[in-house]
Amino acid sequence: MRLLLRQCFACVLVLTQLVLGALCWGKDGHYTVCKIAEGYFEEETIAAVKKLLPESSQGGGDLATFCSWPDEIKHFSQWQWTSSLHYVNTPDYRCNYQYCRDCHDSHMQKDWCVTGAIFNYTRQLMSSSVNSQTLVQYNLTEDLMFLSHYMGDVHQPLHTGFSGDRGGNTVIVHWYNSKTNLHHVWDNMIIESALQTYYNSSLPVMIQSLQAKLTNGWSNDVSSWESCQFNQTACPDQYASESIGLACKYAYRNATPGTTLGDEYFLSRLPIVEKRLAQGGIRLAAILNRIFSANTKLAGA
Ligand SMILES: *[C@@H]1O[C@H](CO)[C@@H](O)[C@H](O)[C@H]1NC(C)=O
Ligand SMILES: *[C@@H]1O[C@H](CO)[C@@H](O)[C@H](O)[C@H]1NC(C)=O
Ligand SMILES: *[C@@H]1O[C@H](CO)[C@@H](O)[C@H](O)[C@H]1NC(C)=O
Ligand SMILES: *[C@@H]1O[C@H](CO)[C@@H](O)[C@H](O)[C@H]1NC(C)=O
Repeated sequence: MRLLLRQCFACVLVLTQLVLGALCWGKDGHYTVCKIAEGYFEEETIAAVKKLLPESSQGGGDLATFCSWPDEIKHFSQWQWTSSLHYVNTPDYRCNYQYCRDCHDSHMQKDWCVTGAIFNYTRQLMSSSVNSQTLVQYNLTEDLMFLSHYMGDVHQPLHTGFSGDRGGNTVIVHWYNSKTNLHHVWDNMIIESALQTYYNSSLPVMIQSLQAKLTNGWSNDVSSWESCQFNQTACPDQYASESIGLACKYAYRNATPGTTLGDEYFLSRLPIVEKRLAQGGIRLAAILNRIFSANTKLAGA
C-alpha cells in the first residue's frame, strides 16, 4: 500500500512537471537566463538578492532556482490573475509590437501582459528605495521572482506571437518524431535537442558555453544589450519588438501546421534561442544592478 502510494505520488509529480513544463520557456530556459544574469551582478545586487530570496531558500541564495516559480503557481486559483502576464500577443500576421495596442489581457484590461508586468515590478522594486512604506505595501520577494521570470519570457520570441494561434500554441507540428506545438518547440524542444546533441545532456555545460560566448563572440554586443533608450531602468517594449521580429523571421517561417521540423529548422534556429537566453540574462542583470545600486538600503550598505 505504502509503495503504491509512493508510486502514485511520483507519478503525479512527473505529470505535474510535464504539464507545467509545457507552458513557458521551460524550466531549463528560465534557469539559464537567471544563471547567466547572476554572473553579471554587482556587489549591491548580490547582497540585495540574497536578502530578498525566500527564507526556505534551499539553493542558498541562488536566484536561478526560483526563476520558474511564477510558472509553478499560476495554476492555483489565487494566482490565476498572473497568467496573462507571461506573454503579449500581436494581431495576426503583424510583425510589430505596440504597447498601447497589444498590452492587455483577454478582457482588454490594459497593462496586463508581460511588458506591463516588467514595468510594474521594476517600478515597485525601484520605489522601495525611495519610500520605506512600500516595503510593507509590496512583497519584494515576489517582485524579484516575477521580474526575473518575465524577463526570460519576453525574450522567447513566441511569447510575443500572434493572438490567433496563441503564440504558436495551436500550431501543431512534429519535432522530429514527436507531435507537439510550435510554442513548445521554442520553450523546450530546441533547448532539449541542443542539450542532447552538443552538451552531453548537461545544463551546466550549456550555460558554460553561453558564458564563454559572452566573453568572446558576443563581447562587443553586451553593452548595447544592457542599455536602454532615455536611461530607463528597463525597456521591455524593445525586448518585445525584437521578439515578434524573430518570431516572424524564424519561428513561424517554414513551420505551418502539420510540418515536420527537423535538422534544418533546428540548426538554423538554435543560434537564435542561444542568443535570446544570453540577452535575457544580461538584461536582467543590468536592470537589477540599476535598481539596487540606487537602493542602498535594500543592499544593506
Ligand atoms: C503589479 O503588481 C502588483 C503586486 O504584485 C499586482 O497586484 C498587480 O496586479 C500588478 N499589475 C500588473 C499589470 O502586472
Ligand atoms: C512574500 O512572498 C513569498 C512568496 O510568495 C512568501 O513566501 C512570503 O511569506 C511573503 N512575505 C510576506 C511578508 O507576505
Ligand atoms: C558526459 O556525461 C556523463 C555522465 O552524465 C559523464 O560520465 C561523462 O564524463 C560526460 N562526458 C563529457 C565529455 O563530459
Ligand atoms: C543618461 O545618463 C548619462 C550618464 O548618467 C547622462 O550623461 C546622459 O545625459 C543621460 N541621457 C539621457 C537621455 O537622459
